[in-house]
Amino acid sequence: MMGDERERDGGRGLRTQDLFDVRGKVALVTGGSRGIGAMIAEALAVNGAKARHSSVYVSSRKADACTKFAKYVNERCRLLAEQDQQERDAACQCTPATTTARTTPASTRTATTTTTTVTARRATARGSCHPLPADLSSFDGCGALFAAFQRTGEPRLHILVNNAGATWGEALETHPESAWDKLLNLNVKAAFRLVQLFLPLLKAAATEAAPASIINVGSITGIGVSLTDTYSYAASKAAIHHMTRVLASKLAEDHICINAIAPGPFPSKMTKALLEQLGDEVVSAVPMHRVGRPADMAGVTLLLCSRAGAYITGAVIPVDGGMLVKASL
Ligand SMILES: NC(=O)c1ccc[n+]([C@@H]2O[C@H](COP(=O)([O-])OP(=O)(O)OC[C@H]3O[C@@H](n4cnc5c(N)ncnc54)[C@H](OP(=O)(O)O)[C@@H]3O)[C@@H](O)[C@H]2O)c1
Repeated sequence: MMGDERERDGGRGLRTQDLFDVRGKVALVTGGSRGIGAMIAEALAVNGAKARHSSVYVSSRKADACTKFAKYVNERCRLLAEQDQQERDAACQCTPATTTARTTPASTRTATTTTTTVTARRATARGSCHPLPADLSSFDGCGALFAAFQRTGEPRLHILVNNAGATWGEALETHPESAWDKLLNLNVKAAFRLVQLFLPLLKAAATEAAPASIINVGSITGIGVSLTDTYSYAASKAAIHHMTRVLASKLAEDHICINAIAPGPFPSKMTKALLEQLGDEVVSAVPMHRVGRPADMAGVTLLLCSRAGAYITGAVIPVDGGMLVKASL
């Protein structure tokens, strides 16, 4: 079997540009206006391809924040596409004439220089980013996001990232019921409801060779035990990890992979106060001696959303610089 597959594609499928290819995919990232969601959305957009209609939709409550972030990403995509074009132009100027003459069909083989110039000047572009604001704290809010997505006319959804989340730090003695309601509604129930709603569109995008992908953003706080007073948050994150496993078993037959990312400390609005007050202590608790970077989140996202991750489902992947495995006596 292995040999057959290699034979069919001549080994092309093992190249990084094929294995980690997310071009042509449509993605929805909740909480995509800032922080970890923004890191994920940008990674998907800049690796997209407009010619193959890659679109990344970012959602959060604040419409202006979604719009501002989408504009920023589209500008990044435009600048990167310009750089791609310049690199192609430079490469073409160096390309030996014989290369083009050999690969160009005879009927189109006029002057070699003309052919290469036309190829080089063909417009290239990256993906595009679009705002889709919604409040996901209730099933109704999730329904409103689904209705808004339907209005875009997208017939398929290849990637759903359930990232929107909130935290609550308060002492055990006073940790209120409202914290439990807020965090379970947003961090767990909304993710489940969005899977329910988007299932037909995910199924429409999924194939055996290129499954659709759902990423749930959990936390290492849902695996290890934090010293912070985040009782309802830790429970909500453990819940989404297990929901990921349960749904993975169910969705595999539909060629939908669902995994959870469990981030360690990443700079964001959520962690701003903690990192300002206890940044040194946090970093010293991380074996890699640093907080997470956008590229760390981009890497795991591209793995889980491309053919490289087509056989990974039900996994909870810590992205934490080793924080969970820090040795202690
Ligand atoms: N940063 C870390 O170190 C860390 C570590 C582990 C896990 N995580 C997880 O990573 C995810 C993202 O966190 P972050 O650190 O990037 O936090 P963040 O900067 O506070 O971002 C949270 C995002 O969720 C949106 N959001 C909040 N409430 C919402 C609601 N009711 N409906 C829709 N969107 C809502 C926010 O936008 P609006 O305010 O406009 O709605 C924002 O886009 C969360 O699930 C968090 O638990 C983060």
